[in-house]
Amino acid sequence: MKRTKIVDLLKSDAPAGKVLIKGWVRTRRDSKDFSFIEINDGSCLKNMQVLADAALPNYEEIKKLTTGSAAAVAGDMIASQGKGQQWELRAENIEIIGIAPETYPLQKKRHTDEFLRTIAHLRPRTNKYGAAFRIRSEAAYSIHKFFKDRGFRCLHSPILTGSDCEGAGELFQVTSLNLDSVPKKEGKPDYARDFFGKPANLTVSGQLSAEMFALALGDVYTFGPTFRAENSNTRRHAAEFWMAEPEMAFCDISENMDLAEELIRYLTRHIMEECAEDIALFAQFVDKTLMQTLENIASSEYVRLPYTQAVEILNGSGKKFEYEAAFGKDLQSEHERYLTEKHFEKPVIVYDYPKSIKPFYMRLNDDGTTVAAMDVLVPGIGEIIGGSQREERLEVLQARMKEIGLSQELYWWYLDSRRFGTVPHSGFGLGFERFLMLVTGIGNIRDVIPFPRTPGSIEF
Ligand code: 4AD
Ligand code: MG
Repeated sequence: MKRTKIVDLLKSDAPAGKVLIKGWVRTRRDSKDFSFIEINDGSCLKNMQVLADAALPNYEEIKKLTTGSAAAVAGDMIASQGKGQQWELRAENIEIIGIAPETYPLQKKRHTDEFLRTIAHLRPRTNKYGAAFRIRSEAAYSIHKFFKDRGFRCLHSPILTGSDCEGAGELFQVTSLNLDSVPKKEGKPDYARDFFGKPANLTVSGQLSAEMFALALGDVYTFGPTFRAENSNTRRHAAEFWMAEPEMAFCDISENMDLAEELIRYLTRHIMEECAEDIALFAQFVDKTLMQTLENIASSEYVRLPYTQAVEILNGSGKKFEYEAAFGKDLQSEHERYLTEKHFEKPVIVYDYPKSIKPFYMRLNDDGTTVAAMDVLVPGIGEIIGGSQREERLEVLQARMKEIGLSQELYWWYLDSRRFGTVPHSGFGLGFERFLMLVTGIGNIRDVIPFPRTPGSIEF
């Protein structure tokens, strides 16, 4: 008999008849003539209640099914007499697959997030993390769906690169040289003898590749892992995180903002509809205001605010910030959150940042001091999207690269795109984990990543 998923059994309108389920025991309650066993197979939040009659031939074995043990149950779906579930499974055969001894760390009590991080290999078996990672899966699917429905092509940009898109120097270097005896030339590592013949690193963004493909296929997006050796131990930074990066040819900053807004609204609505049961868990136990926040994100029109005005609002707020807000300084998380949570109480798109705090590829505005950058800020998180219109004018781009000391030789291919049929184009990057924090109310990025990588932590 083929295994059926519990999610499919519980949503059916009538009892499904004879079925086979396989999963892990959450609890077992014994009475005189039978036992109730709660089984979860990870397909949904709810457990299947199994009724095991004492007359079953291996009943003594069945009574050894401890929390965490795996079992296969064949039987009949029937209407449940008890409260809490519509259907239950009357077992005709229970096969014990794997026993979990009492040392199983997930006993029936609330565990802290900090403790669960130390057993990241088991935490998806809890209600909270099962829900979080089902939502993560659905969100990944909805990103592809959003772009597919709008005619974007999916681009697999390289993970190994020789460039630093963001220019922030937060690179994980990749080498096949023996670090115990690095070959040297004039006192420095001889990269000519390294695997690629020059320094290499893990990508911090797929954008530069996406630009090349947007300038050929029109609308493209990348969705994959990116890596940053930022040594900041905050609740919203990870060393390995995923980004969805659309790039559009013949597109200016304002259309770019339209797409960013549409994307966040769409993804949020999709998760509210497709993951209603899992989201309800977070609304009940993690963040009581979650449903309100999600409705706000999915329905409101986002504020669009030039950076200079953002600075004025912050300075006029009367609020004491840890860091000062001033033209030429990047907005800190506390500033971002003040704007979106307190001042506007909805998502805010800040645009036209000073060029001095932004990467080389952003389009210079006519004022000569700001660039066509845009960041989307949302309540509880701050920056969730960073993007810009790209500098498509060869001379302006070259001058900018010179100004900040970026090698034009290294980026010859990037400059080529401005030599041959250059066009205005724009794009942005959505921090996938930050989006997951937004829709679940989970406060720490470590808890929306299956196996998080942060400074000093690479276990699992
Ligand atoms: O603003 P960022 O650095 O933009 C880029 O990388 C552009 N190349 C994207 C583009 O235009 N195609 O990063 C984009 C988003 C941020 O808004 C944030 O949500 C997320 O990526 N992000 C991080 N998320 C988790 N951990 C980190 N260390 C992150 N750094 C950025
Ligand atoms: Mg940014």
